[in-house]
Amino acid sequence: MNNTSSIGFVCGTKGDAVSFLVNKEASLSFGQIVRIESGERSFYARVVNSESSSTLELIEQLREAEGKEAFGPYSAYRNVDAMLFLEKRSGRVLSPTFNPDYRDKVYAAGDEDCSILRLSGELEVGCLRSADQLLGAVGINIEAIPRMMGMFGMTGSGKTNTELILNAQIIDNSPRTVALIFDFAGQLLEGKEIKPQRGLKDHPLFHSKVQYYSSKNGRMTVGLHTLTPGKLDTLFPDIQPPQRRIAWELYKRLGVAWIETAREAYRVTGNVELRGNKSAVEALMQKLSSLPQDLFPSSNYTFVDSILQNVCSGITCLVDISGLRSEDQNRIVCLAASAVAERYKRMWEESYEDWQKLPTLLITLEEAHEFLDPNKPKTIFSDIALTYRKYRVGLNAVTPRPSRINFDVFAELWTKIIMKTELKKDRIYLTENTPYMEYSETEIKMLDVGEALLISEPKIKFAVPIKVAHFPEYLDTLGRADYGLPDSSNLSEMDKRLQRLNEQEKLSLE
Ligand SMILES: Nc1ncnc2c1ncn2[C@@H]1O[C@H](COP(=O)(O)OP(=O)(O)OP(=O)(O)O)[C@@H](O)[C@H]1O
Ligand SMILES: [Mg+2]
Repeated sequence: MNNTSSIGFVCGTKGDAVSFLVNKEASLSFGQIVRIESGERSFYARVVNSESSSTLELIEQLREAEGKEAFGPYSAYRNVDAMLFLEKRSGRVLSPTFNPDYRDKVYAAGDEDCSILRLSGELEVGCLRSADQLLGAVGINIEAIPRMMGMFGMTGSGKTNTELILNAQIIDNSPRTVALIFDFAGQLLEGKEIKPQRGLKDHPLFHSKVQYYSSKNGRMTVGLHTLTPGKLDTLFPDIQPPQRRIAWELYKRLGVAWIETAREAYRVTGNVELRGNKSAVEALMQKLSSLPQDLFPSSNYTFVDSILQNVCSGITCLVDISGLRSEDQNRIVCLAASAVAERYKRMWEESYEDWQKLPTLLITLEEAHEFLDPNKPKTIFSDIALTYRKYRVGLNAVTPRPSRINFDVFAELWTKIIMKTELKKDRIYLTENTPYMEYSETEIKMLDVGEALLISEPKIKFAVPIKVAHFPEYLDTLGRADYGLPDSSNLSEMDKRLQRLNEQEKLSLE
């Protein structure tokens, strides 16, 4: 196949497990992909364990350690266990149908294997890692977006960088794809904590393909007149049926200004002149009073309409909710996400041809455990993960705490990017509930910053060890690409010509 030398030979197989002995100088790592040549077939396997030992008696080992005697090259050996995941036979790639023979040669995966494994995709995330080498590009396909995604990793493992890389490529693929990003820490615009500091605003298409919303620039308000009682479930997931009934009564009686009018009446008289359970009225009014004036002013403008319009025309929306109280963050996020998801659903149902023209949407949700925790009231995000696949709405759940994500939702995330995770509970949850990850628990503890395991079913059916591209370097490679932007020298030429025309005009007027 290729002419690199083998790193060892098979010394035993059992089912889909292969053991091999490695040459002394070979460099290997946990999770690495190896190829085993077995006659007509090639097998691909992932390294899951390694042991080294001596062939000597204890007394001989002690003498060798003291340097009194040398026993030559066969006194020690390293034994590696690997799990088969793929077989290649007469040009076809399939799941393993058999296993290799004793003494078959083992090779470290190289660039050629990268194309056989079909790891590249439209949205490139990084490169294949093989021991200390970086090989070909690894990516996911646009069709993977509505099959739902998750990014997991402890603090500092590289989640924000991976979000930047993925969303940058969604922007590149506009209007086929579009992103709606909820940024809890306010990092993505400028790339805070990414070193060197670069964020989405440095993307060459930022000004034409991205809209930034923040409470700081006044672009993020939800007018009270746009809040019908039907939206209360989204704003207050713990609302009870009697409170909902009272809200509808008020709305019928007071019209669009129902919230302000009821709040004012309640403030002055202590009730809302409605028959109804006093404690339900009190609970509802407490909820309505908790909507802060700056985010929820008395108006009929809502930034959610602007998001809807932008998303549908392929403009990515970056919603910076840093600095808000956590209840308000949750409200803004759920309001915006449910409006967009509902729009996609309604168009699919009512105007299928227009729906086909919509960009495939990825919603990035940081702190996803807060919205998908089985012990908290249900939010729109579990509906999206479970049922919005056919409308081409995808969720990217980002969290350092995967074990706090509801199991049914977790099982629906077909693409997973798993970064360094130390907490045992999270590692066990990840490996037990992700196909092809059952042997990787130790490996995910030992990953370095920016290193990850990627699974993207149905295309990539094994855990691929990758190094995620670093966003600042990615931008540098983009900078060299042709984005069809006018060359700045042409612009200055144009300026000069305009200036000349102006001067001529002035002269002819004089
Ligand atoms: N693939 C990478 N290559 C090189 N450096 C990286 C890579 N990914 C992340 N880093 C660097 O590691 C640091 C931490 O990354 P990042 O902010 O993405 O982590 P995080 O998981 O989002 O952390 P937190 O949970 O604290 O938000 C940053 O300085 C970033 O520049
Ligand atoms: Mg981060």
